[in-house]
Amino acid sequence: EEERFVEALLGKMTLEEKIGQMNQRTGQWEMTGPAPKNNNSQQLLEDLKNGHVGSMLNVVGAEATRKAQQLVVDNSRLGIPLIFGYDVVHGHQTMFPIPLGEAASWDPELAMLSASVAAKEAAATGLQWTFAPMVDVGRDARWGRVMEGAGEDAYLGSAFAKARVEGFQGSDLSNENTIAACAKHFAGYAFSESGRDYNAVEIGGESLHNVVLPPFKAASDAGVATFMNSFNTIDGMPATASSYLQRTLLKGQWGFDGFVVSDWNSIGEMIQHGAAADLKEAALRAVKGGSDMDMEAHAYLAYLKELVESGEVDVKYIDDAVRRILRIKYRLGLFDDPYKYCNDEREKNNLLTDEHKEAARKVARESMVLLRNEKQILPIDEAVKSIAVIGPLADDKDSPLGNWRAQAISNSAVSLLEGVKSAVGTGIKVNYAKGCDLVTGDRTFGNILNFNNDDRSAFKEAVRAAKKSDVVLLAIGEDAYQSGEGRSQTDITLSGLQNELFEAIYKVNKNVVVVLMTGRPVVIPELAEKAPAILETWHAGSEAGNAIADVLFGKYNPSGKLPMTFPRNVGQVPIYYNHKNTGRPVGDDMGNLWSRYTDSPNTPLYPFGYGLSYTSFMYSNLHLDKNEISTGDEVKVMVTVTNSGKVKGKEVIQLYIRDEVATYARPVKELKGFKKVELAPGESKEVSFTLGKDELGYFHPNGAYVLESGKFKIMVGGNSIETIDTTFTMN
Ligand code: IFM
Repeated sequence: EEERFVEALLGKMTLEEKIGQMNQRTGQWEMTGPAPKNNNSQQLLEDLKNGHVGSMLNVVGAEATRKAQQLVVDNSRLGIPLIFGYDVVHGHQTMFPIPLGEAASWDPELAMLSASVAAKEAAATGLQWTFAPMVDVGRDARWGRVMEGAGEDAYLGSAFAKARVEGFQGSDLSNENTIAACAKHFAGYAFSESGRDYNAVEIGGESLHNVVLPPFKAASDAGVATFMNSFNTIDGMPATASSYLQRTLLKGQWGFDGFVVSDWNSIGEMIQHGAAADLKEAALRAVKGGSDMDMEAHAYLAYLKELVESGEVDVKYIDDAVRRILRIKYRLGLFDDPYKYCNDEREKNNLLTDEHKEAARKVARESMVLLRNEKQILPIDEAVKSIAVIGPLADDKDSPLGNWRAQAISNSAVSLLEGVKSAVGTGIKVNYAKGCDLVTGDRTFGNILNFNNDDRSAFKEAVRAAKKSDVVLLAIGEDAYQSGEGRSQTDITLSGLQNELFEAIYKVNKNVVVVLMTGRPVVIPELAEKAPAILETWHAGSEAGNAIADVLFGKYNPSGKLPMTFPRNVGQVPIYYNHKNTGRPVGDDMGNLWSRYTDSPNTPLYPFGYGLSYTSFMYSNLHLDKNEISTGDEVKVMVTVTNSGKVKGKEVIQLYIRDEVATYARPVKELKGFKKVELAPGESKEVSFTLGKDELGYFHPNGAYVLESGKFKIMVGGNSIETIDTTFTMN
């Protein structure tokens, strides 16, 4: 039925109308990219009426989308409805934790919940399509967009990619509460050299296939409706023009039947890359490479017609792209009713509801990672009668919303101070002081932040508050706009006066609980040495303060684990757990010539998978159902986990493997399974995992998936370093 409909419509379309479907225009260009030089709203109006636009981005709201849709449906010859896209990344108006934070929950179902709420809210404001999830595996904390992904690991990233796609899309795209998802940025974007956004990517086939591509494949397998390609070149080839990625792999081997949208003017940027002489050549390379829709380069509308007429572009490329776009519009039900998402009632009743806020609070508290808790200073106990809430982020109602905040209302998050006050009621005295500013200047999208600050005038008040309190909650970290697109930093230590503020407070009160709000892993050696407790809360969303209070006061026992390694210093970056061994690993008998730094250990400050709880867990009795298997067979791994502490808690049990000898050297460990279980004090559970051909093979650089016989080490534990192990052989 669907294909018949699409073919019949395609058969009626002129070449110009087909190209129109491949053209995406913005409504408010200031939001996500530079203003197009040739922007002319009159021209846009004409293009819409003539059916020369197939999609719009950044038009939001039942009324706004209805108006734009009407222009097309009422005036163009075939009335093919627009599809409206928008960056709905971690919530639409109700904000959930930034995606990196959600990944720290190690619970894909929570990411699914978050995406489904975001979809419901977005769909109620006229949208049918989000440019999310970002499934780029990121190893470089300097790159500001690590906040948008699921961290440094392909296996964890694949689980979250699948969950997010399923959350946004549900089981039926035509349901008015679901929207089409978009796996981005295809591919390699997070590997931009030196962590600088948009920089070149030099990656090689082995890492491309084993690290970068698996989450994209998982998204494709989960039925994601669209892909977005990326700004970067990979080994010199602009991703936008890569027919290997977009045609051979995605649309060929993976069988993806949706469409690929370019990133914002990534077609035009091929000229700057030095990969196209002009916009016409860029259009030619992009369309042949498999980019189906042109986001704001205006290249397809300007040149595809003449490229087809001159014979330089075969019309089969155009037909293929249009077929894909029509297919997704069909699945969304837009041909049945182009206005089905423009519903004022639903818009009024579905945003920032109590139910959505409750979901955001749940996801937020499960995303937090307890990095340190000396002498069990947390949870805050009943003997505490006064609490100082200090820091530039202590009463910040905006930064917790994070970057890529869609339609969030500025300053609408529950601040830490508010959360603490409502948790403690009147019995405990709360002393607030800001201490210092975080950044100065215009912090909104597109502006460079100013971290320089030598104004210590507010220190005094903060020190006074600390002195007269039993416990200090010190909220420091990053502004929401320190991470996100175009937000790379060379220095990921705490900015401005924050470390100094900590020292000043610590001098007068040793009971300092650091509440860290960041969009990336940061470098915090001083805190890690001195602060008795550190809770990484990320940018936790609309309910941040309440969720943090839930954890601080023990209403929720923290269970998050790091999805990205925390380095000791910036020089270690990129640092990640699943690195290859060197020929001279530290500790081997090589005199002084080991692979090491002369001024820092190789080890991280906090490893991947790390996170504490208010209870403790013990691992024992790791065993396998067999110690030898034939290639292609499965092995079952069993381990007993015991809650050896005094309170109920959740533990993320992590399974790593090492393929000890292979044609291409394999990483020292690779995550191949995880499970989150809840255990009462004293309770034990046996947890099992199955390893089969999907886990035990790897990709050779040419993209061939291979199972190689030999010995495998199995490691199981509560983080990537503290594990117990065993081995088996695959014959
Ligand atoms: O979706 C984004 C993309 O991630 C970066 N460039 C702009 C797009 C649309 O806003």
